[in-house]
Amino acid sequence: MPLTRRQILKSALFAGAAVTIVPRYVLGGEAGTAPNDRVTLAGIGIGGIGHPQLKDARDAGFQVVALCDVDDVHAKKTYDVFPEARKYRDFRDLLNSEGDKIDAVYCGTPDHTHAIITLAALRAKKHVCCVKPLTRTIEEGRAVLKAVREAGTATQVTMQPNTSEQACRTMELIYAGAIGEIREIHAWSGRPVWPQGMLDYPNWEDPVPSTFDWDLWLGPAEKRPFADQWPENCPYPGMACANWGKRGVYHPFNFRGWFAFGTGSLGDMGCHRANLPYRMFRLKHPTRITASSTRAYKVSYPIGCMVTYDYPASEDFPEIRLTWYDGGLKPPVPKCMGSEMFPAEGVLYVGTEGMMFNDRILDPERAEKFANVPKTIERRGGVMPEWYEACRGGQAASANFEYAIPVTEFVLLGNLAVMTGKAVEFDPETLTIANNTEAQALISQPYHNGWTL
Ligand SMILES: NC(=O)c1ccc[n+]([C@@H]2O[C@H](COP(=O)([O-])OP(=O)(O)OC[C@H]3O[C@@H](n4cnc5c(N)ncnc54)[C@H](O)[C@@H]3O)[C@@H](O)[C@H]2O)c1
Repeated sequence: MPLTRRQILKSALFAGAAVTIVPRYVLGGEAGTAPNDRVTLAGIGIGGIGHPQLKDARDAGFQVVALCDVDDVHAKKTYDVFPEARKYRDFRDLLNSEGDKIDAVYCGTPDHTHAIITLAALRAKKHVCCVKPLTRTIEEGRAVLKAVREAGTATQVTMQPNTSEQACRTMELIYAGAIGEIREIHAWSGRPVWPQGMLDYPNWEDPVPSTFDWDLWLGPAEKRPFADQWPENCPYPGMACANWGKRGVYHPFNFRGWFAFGTGSLGDMGCHRANLPYRMFRLKHPTRITASSTRAYKVSYPIGCMVTYDYPASEDFPEIRLTWYDGGLKPPVPKCMGSEMFPAEGVLYVGTEGMMFNDRILDPERAEKFANVPKTIERRGGVMPEWYEACRGGQAASANFEYAIPVTEFVLLGNLAVMTGKAVEFDPETLTIANNTEAQALISQPYHNGWTL
């Protein structure tokens, strides 16, 4: 059934709250600075994905004036791109010294330090872009939400945008009724491509290089000895070691597999895959989440898992079940695909009158019938151009924090079901999981080394 015009219009709007833009001169910048100046940006955590994303930010119009990283070697390639930018090791020093010189902050650190950096930047009334997943716990997400409402600045999360050509085309086709009414969505990722399935923390200690600050890297996480590289062969039988090109135990990149620092494959890719379904069907919170996985571990995520989310019916959409797969698991290939296989990443929409893989209608006859559905949904320029527009007082970015919190909770709640092996029934108002006390205990996590939220 095609959606009514009212349903389409409602669905095409973003769930984000209106964003009040505060120009730099109001925030304490140079008196008289014109509000249409280039937006000045500080990058924190710049050696990994921060490298390409800060170049994207520059290309979108930001002026990168300050950079911060705890690893001089890993960050060097980014320092070299922005030789004029002032350099810092500790983000608190950056915020103290640059207070009136920066309008915006980009955070590209590992998951366990997103919240402390994002909160500090919002409390300093900066526009903030944070890599996904926005936070590592649900409590952190709600603290960020409160802070962004108080700051009123322009925010963005680097999820795969729901405003791209492919995303908008998928919505237009589904809203036009190309595959009927949808009650079932499957989303998957071939990750991990980093070590996962560790039985325990390393039982050795390595010297910390003088070019690296391990204590700042740990931030609020429990103090533990630094371990540099994994040995030549997988130390534990069964441990996923798909990406031994990067041998770091924790840093760089491989923090992802540890509970204490990362959010596993679901946290890494779930926000990208779920972003469009969340926008398209205006999803908020599932009523029930169940999970199964390969062997579970105390300190790391399992090698593969499957998580089922049940969403209640809304005014415009029926009940929807979204199933997540990772570690190489995927939904069964439908008969209409013949011998074709699914690629490593994707989303399958199952409707009452057919199926779509991303924006492709699988039934050739229906694909032809719906080939001329008009383009009605606005395409936008990507993560950084959207954020730049918002910082300049324009339209809010598509993954602004208000919108992004439920998508972030999608991955965090899924992980609670995986980690506890039990169903999760989450009350988003009271933040309670009455049916699962272990999951309830993980909604917030302790902060160490003097850090607080
Ligand atoms: N498309 C995307 O949006 C996308 C893609 C990749 C990664 N990510 C996210 O980016 C984050 C980082 O992933 P990565 O692969 O770049 O990791 P990485 O380890 O390669 O890079 C992280 C960088 O942050 C630095 N860092 C760590 N702690 C810091 C601190 N307290 N202060 C300043 N700098 C600090 C590290 O030294 C390093 O240079 C993760 O949360 C990941 O999920 C997002």
